[in-house]
Amino acid sequence: MLPSAFPEPELFAPNTGEPALRWGVLAPGQIAGAFVGALHRCTAQRVHAVGSRSLERAEKFARDHGIPRASGSYDAVVGDPDIDVVYIAAPQSEHLALGLLAIAAGKHVLIEKPLATTATDARILVDAAREAGVFLMEAMWSRYLPQSSVIRTLIADGALGDVRSVSADHGQAIPFDPEHRLYRPDLGGGALLDLGIYPVQLASMILGAPTQITAVGGMTETGVDAYSTLVLDHGPHRHATLTTTLEVRTPTVAAIVGTEARIEMGSPFHIPTTLTLADNGFLTETLHWEDPTGLPVFDGLSWEATALARYIGEGRTESPLHTLDETVAILATIDEARRQLTA
Ligand SMILES: NC(=O)c1ccc[n+]([C@@H]2O[C@H](COP(=O)([O-])OP(=O)(O)OC[C@H]3O[C@@H](n4cnc5c(N)ncnc54)[C@H](OP(=O)(O)O)[C@@H]3O)[C@@H](O)[C@H]2O)c1
Repeated sequence: MLPSAFPEPELFAPNTGEPALRWGVLAPGQIAGAFVGALHRCTAQRVHAVGSRSLERAEKFARDHGIPRASGSYDAVVGDPDIDVVYIAAPQSEHLALGLLAIAAGKHVLIEKPLATTATDARILVDAAREAGVFLMEAMWSRYLPQSSVIRTLIADGALGDVRSVSADHGQAIPFDPEHRLYRPDLGGGALLDLGIYPVQLASMILGAPTQITAVGGMTETGVDAYSTLVLDHGPHRHATLTTTLEVRTPTVAAIVGTEARIEMGSPFHIPTTLTLADNGFLTETLHWEDPTGLPVFDGLSWEATALARYIGEGRTESPLHTLDETVAILATIDEARRQLTA
């Protein structure tokens, strides 16, 4: 029997007691623009400074987004005494060094996904943040979306029965260009670290860390992983099948399947989307959910920012919805998959 209605999502709504933090942005590229736009439209958070390797780029970004301070260096932003939290939006290869720079300056830090390119480097960041007593979080925005709250509540309430499997894919058609960051090994390119991390984190949220990992796939001519399928074993009767590719656009959907019912996530599953709850009957009964907040696509980045502010206001140093140990474990799964692809 399906429930009569979906649970209400727990929202990270703005102006609900969280501090209005002063943010500094490092590396004003594509996602930084989307993030700052979402922050200013949908939260009580404000960006106070931006740093780029080029003063000209920083000044343009500051003008475009109404940011008071612009610098031609990252050091100036992390050293700015008026900044509470630093958001790092550089390519994956730079996350470790820039994260350590911000932590050493005593700032709270939000680092774009992936936290680092390996579990070992992620652990270095985690240890440094813990030692410094600052807040550290990977910007895995899917975790903070309303749909993720609904999924967690349905599972906790037993609506799916015993959860047995997760399937998810994330494929985007990125035209081949050896200079594009996704095709460059030196910038931490490859499908798994950029796109595959979304299916892997979903499986982790639902089933925890895998007990066995099997990966098959292939590489680009530049030497990064182009496509792969991961089969994760999670102990008796539990498994996940995850696919990623940077060569073709796949449905980018997900299903979470239990003994009583399943949740199907609409495409693309990792951004604000729809849910279908379906029972196991021969003539499947379904119930549909749409995000009542209506925040479209990249405005969904705002939820993680308000979550971070709320957690800092509560005196936390990490996200309870995506702990630092889990963040490292997710990268360990990706490490092992990448190792098998190149073995
Ligand atoms: N949450 C999401 O939905 C989402 C979406 C896309 C990307 N991302 C993540 O965000 C990060 C950035 O991705 P993006 O697509 O925004 O990249 P992008 O447009 O290429 O911007 C990255 C910026 O990093 C700076 N940078 C610093 N060192 C660099 C280097 N060695 N080479 C190139 N640029 C360098 C550059 O800014 P300056 O030189 O001006 O400092 C550049 O504009 C990645 O970690 C990615 O995984 C997240």
